[in-house]
Amino acid sequence: MRYNIVTLQEKPELAEQILLLNRAAWPKFLLHANTLHWNSLYTTFTEFQLVLCDLYGNVIAVGHTIPLVWDGNPASLPMNFDDLLERAIICHQRGHNATTLSALGAVVAPSHRRQGLSGAILREMIKLATQRRLNDLIAPVRPTMKDQYPLIPIERYVEWKRPDGSPFDFWLRVHWRLGGVQLQVAPEAMRVQGSVAEWEEWTGMEFPESGRYVVPGALQPVSIDRDKDCGLYCDPNVWVRHPISKIDTGNPNTQAER
Ligand SMILES: CC(C)(COP(=O)(O)OP(=O)(O)OC[C@H]1O[C@@H](n2cnc3c(N)ncnc32)[C@H](O)[C@@H]1OP(=O)(O)O)[C@@H](O)C(=O)NCCC(=O)NCCS
Repeated sequence: MRYNIVTLQEKPELAEQILLLNRAAWPKFLLHANTLHWNSLYTTFTEFQLVLCDLYGNVIAVGHTIPLVWDGNPASLPMNFDDLLERAIICHQRGHNATTLSALGAVVAPSHRRQGLSGAILREMIKLATQRRLNDLIAPVRPTMKDQYPLIPIERYVEWKRPDGSPFDFWLRVHWRLGGVQLQVAPEAMRVQGSVAEWEEWTGMEFPESGRYVVPGALQPVSIDRDKDCGLYCDPNVWVRHPISKIDTGNPNTQAER
């Protein structure tokens, strides 16, 4: 598919389209996650927001990324999105040299899905990290198909494989094909907390008693506590690392490419 790639810095007028694309892409409850500094993507970090446009200039996909300092040790990966954004902001404010680019999310417009654009976004992210001479692209990957298996622990789910050895989850598979290596699970990458009424509004469901509920779009159950009037959900992700220096020198994973 033909597309033009621009950054939000080059085309700030695309911000509204990007916001709309994001709003429509995620389950409603996830838009209420505690990602305090998300807005900085549209202000401080516009040069790291990759936008794929069709030939008429309409946004067809977006890749959100942010640069930060990471020492390459899995033990010092950010705990969650808030931590990740905060580290990037500190790195920017103190004028430190970033070592790493982190993906924050990729969205393809519904009209352009199933045409290979997710891989294109990821390749553009890798290209950006390469151009900036960063060591790695890392990503807290949300295994998209896990909402169909909410009762399976994330640690087990991310190990599921297809007969050819590729990851079972298609979004993990896209990363894997481009050289991504799974590092570790981030069990609480995003946290969503709200009142029972808010959860009922976000999900269109009712929660008559306290307990754990399977909710459409959630990767694991949502805990409802009616006594405390509180619903809590943690979005589990898995950290994937794309070592930039190895991208051009051949990647054994690509041998399984179809
Ligand atoms: C996830 C998403 C980015 C995929 O984009 P896409 O451009 O439609 O995906 P592609 O066409 O590149 O397909 C890549 C692979 O996923 C598979 N795939 C894509 N959508 C699928 C679906 N809904 N169900 C099952 N498989 C799917 C494709 O068949 C392909 O599989 P393959 O590895 O066997 O070839 C897109 O669905 C999206 O924007 N979703 C909402 C936001 C989101 O969940 N982003 C990912 C987490 S950050």
